[in-house]
Amino acid sequence: MLQRPRGTRDFLPGEMEQRRAVEAAMRDTARRWGYREVCTPEFEELELFTIRSGEGIIGEMYVFEDKGGRNMALRPELTAPVLRLYVNEGRVLRKPLRWFYFADCFRYERPQKGRYRQFWQFGIELIGVDSALADAEVIMVGDDVLRRAGIRFSLHVGHLGFMRSLLSGLPPEDQRPVRMFLDKKNWQGLEDFLCSTGNADLAGPLADLVQCRDLEQAFSIAGGMPEEERVRETFAILDDAGVNYTLDAGIARGLDYYTGTVFEAFAENLGAENQVMGGGTYRLAHLFGGEDTPSCGFAIGFDRVMVARGDREPAAERVVAVVYSPEGRAYALEVAREFRNAGIRTELDLTGRSISSQLSQAAKGANYAIILGRREAETRQVTIKNLATGVQVQVPLAGAVDGVRSGDPR
Ligand code: HAM
Repeated sequence: MLQRPRGTRDFLPGEMEQRRAVEAAMRDTARRWGYREVCTPEFEELELFTIRSGEGIIGEMYVFEDKGGRNMALRPELTAPVLRLYVNEGRVLRKPLRWFYFADCFRYERPQKGRYRQFWQFGIELIGVDSALADAEVIMVGDDVLRRAGIRFSLHVGHLGFMRSLLSGLPPEDQRPVRMFLDKKNWQGLEDFLCSTGNADLAGPLADLVQCRDLEQAFSIAGGMPEEERVRETFAILDDAGVNYTLDAGIARGLDYYTGTVFEAFAENLGAENQVMGGGTYRLAHLFGGEDTPSCGFAIGFDRVMVARGDREPAAERVVAVVYSPEGRAYALEVAREFRNAGIRTELDLTGRSISSQLSQAAKGANYAIILGRREAETRQVTIKNLATGVQVQVPLAGAVDGVRSGDPR
């Protein structure tokens, strides 16, 4: 038997209905904040992703050469593609641009619960504005979207300036590994690296900064930083808005393009892969041939949100099964069309079996059976059977649809 590729999943209808319901809630939240949807290709030129992160990222991507000899990659995320789109098309649009996306991404990772090779992100990018309120808005949208998705989570907000300031004595090529160890929460690796580069004295202050939850204390551990006023203002706005967050100056983020404010959210009931959202301010447009443009955004790991929600059945949809005798078939086609036109999920029996076996099949999935024989066809009536109670009524077709919709056919 052929199997699906490692790290991918199939979704059956029940699960798809749940996913679509959560997706709809997320889209609606973004819309309420003024964000509008964009869509980019599933694959891009490889350079789009290596230009900022270097060739090292290739090991984590699906990369291929197309028939024209061009190096391509399946998108591992949407921020770079969306900023490429902005540079290509959006520069003439009125800024700030408030865009959102819901799309699948591909990363060549070691699959485990909550970590897949194909996964979906819901994200926003706020492009062309540089202010504390802009950063705060993006955080508030993320908080709102996760709330509407119905999960319990903690929101951590930090700023790269703290680490930058603390690590300012290190050469730039040593700062990146420190950030990567921090992002992976690999404390032993971090300590070994600091010792091997002769910076063991930084281990203590770094640990203090990672654990610190107080703004004044974070400033004093990190030392003076040019962004101090901006950082204070961002946190003050979040406080004014009543956002429930934790200060976390240890957030380093795994991607290379962040510049200032950074934030992450963690679902309360997930295991190791519990990060459900990541984002921050960044600059990418100038690398893609555009003007230097301030931007801020986040992406939510949609699949992790679904795991965190657990198995919740969506509100059951009313289903009608149309069963009929051979003389009733033409009328059955008409009646089924009436129900469908009214927006009701309607399944026509396809087997031509006896009415009684059609009815027992219908009872397995439908709420109502619409029974149509010669008598119904002649009188343009329908017999409606409530499959839960067994109660059966005969009514004119004209009133049947409303009766089923209201749950009270008579
Ligand atoms: P990221 O942190 O790499 O950020 O990914 C965002 C979220 O995607 C993660 O928090 C996680 O929930 C989910 N995720 C990542 N990898 C996987 C995986 N293999 N399986 C399942 N879920 C996964 C970004 O992608 C940035 N583009 C976010 C951003 C937008 N920054 C600014 N704008």
